[in-house]
Amino acid sequence: MSTSPKRKRSPSPGAKAGSASKGRGRLRASVSVDLAERSYQVELGRDWLETIGRRIGRRLEAERIALITVPTVARRYGPTLARGLAASGARVGRIVVPDGDASKSLAQLAGLYDRFLEQGLDRHSAVVTLGGGVAGDLGGFAAATFLRGIPFAQVPTTVLAMVDASIGGKTGVNLAQGKNLVGAFHQPRGVYIDIETLRTLPPRQRAAGTAELVKAAAIWDAELFAWLEDRIEAFLALDPKVVLPALERACAIKAEVVRRDEREGGLRRLLNFGHTLAHAIETHARYRGILHGEAVAIGMVFAAERSEALGFSPTGTRARLQSLLERAGLPTRAPDRPRRAYLSAIAVDKKKQGGKIHFVVLEGIGAAGTVALAPEEILPPRWRP
Ligand SMILES: NC(=O)c1ccc[n+]([C@@H]2O[C@H](COP(=O)([O-])OP(=O)(O)OC[C@H]3O[C@@H](n4cnc5c(N)ncnc54)[C@H](O)[C@@H]3O)[C@@H](O)[C@H]2O)c1
Ligand SMILES: [Zn+2]
Repeated sequence: MSTSPKRKRSPSPGAKAGSASKGRGRLRASVSVDLAERSYQVELGRDWLETIGRRIGRRLEAERIALITVPTVARRYGPTLARGLAASGARVGRIVVPDGDASKSLAQLAGLYDRFLEQGLDRHSAVVTLGGGVAGDLGGFAAATFLRGIPFAQVPTTVLAMVDASIGGKTGVNLAQGKNLVGAFHQPRGVYIDIETLRTLPPRQRAAGTAELVKAAAIWDAELFAWLEDRIEAFLALDPKVVLPALERACAIKAEVVRRDEREGGLRRLLNFGHTLAHAIETHARYRGILHGEAVAIGMVFAAERSEALGFSPTGTRARLQSLLERAGLPTRAPDRPRRAYLSAIAVDKKKQGGKIHFVVLEGIGAAGTVALAPEEILPPRWRP
């Protein structure tokens, strides 16, 4: 098994509160993504959307900025962010794409290029994405490809995008044949998080994103996991004293993994923990009725169970993970479908990965590794959902 290499233990978010500056109820934190000349900061704070706009404006130094977002988010947060961006002297054009994963399409992408040209975007222009992973992936890919690439910044507004999608530079769109089949690595110039935007995120979306937060802790940071075991309800209720340090730590984990493996040669695969079965579940549900994070929750419990059965992790690991996810209101049992249906979906993942599935196993809470397995080894003959 290839395992996660030794790393310095980091203090739990609670012990680390000193890194976040506090004063008059304001909380701030910052995480560096160190990638040589592509380095950037993830800045976290509360009630500071207009300030974020001004900071991005200064950082990008663009004459024109295309602000790409989705309707709900545009209505609530678009004007405030745009006001901040405009304060830097940039001309800001808002582009609203329809909600949902279907917007990550070549058709929407072509529409964005049209709008960029209408707005007069050139090499001195930039893109800002405001929204969840859909706005970020689509807008980021448009920025990666327009005029062979212009700068962009991310303002994620879902838990999932804050802890996962906005960091690391993966951008792209879906094809009819599958998700994320066309894309590019294009690192943002900065990621700016206002945790107050999570207040309007529907609870089910909040919980789904929390699955990726739990994932980060499960594969990398036992202390964060234990810290979350004491506070998961407060996190979901959006207590800023819990949300900010939890997101800060999750961003730091993602940043560290990406720093060591920007282009997914090995380590970055650990972030796929729970995703083998999750992808199979999503394929069969045709991406309807189940959110990505929900499928990941189910997939993580399954992968933890297999990790125990294969002798990689001690008994009790799966139970701890399952209990935390259930407290977050997430599903943990795979939909009732025949084993062969899951097998065929997993076989598609195998093709994409070049004939092998790099199945992520836990070595206990807080550590993970990958093993190359055939679909039949992942789902043994007597396996039932
Ligand atoms: N690039 C990466 O590394 C990476 C990693 C993980 C996931 N992803 C991608 O991210 C996408 C999923 O992201 P997501 O879960 O954020 O989905 P999403 O962008 O569709 O957002 C989920 C829903 O929440 C709404 N919303 C967003 N912010 C809101 C707010 N503050 N208040 C109210 N409503 C709000 C959106 O309108 C949408 O309906 C997938 O396409 C996935 O492939 C990318
Ligand atoms: Zn995921």
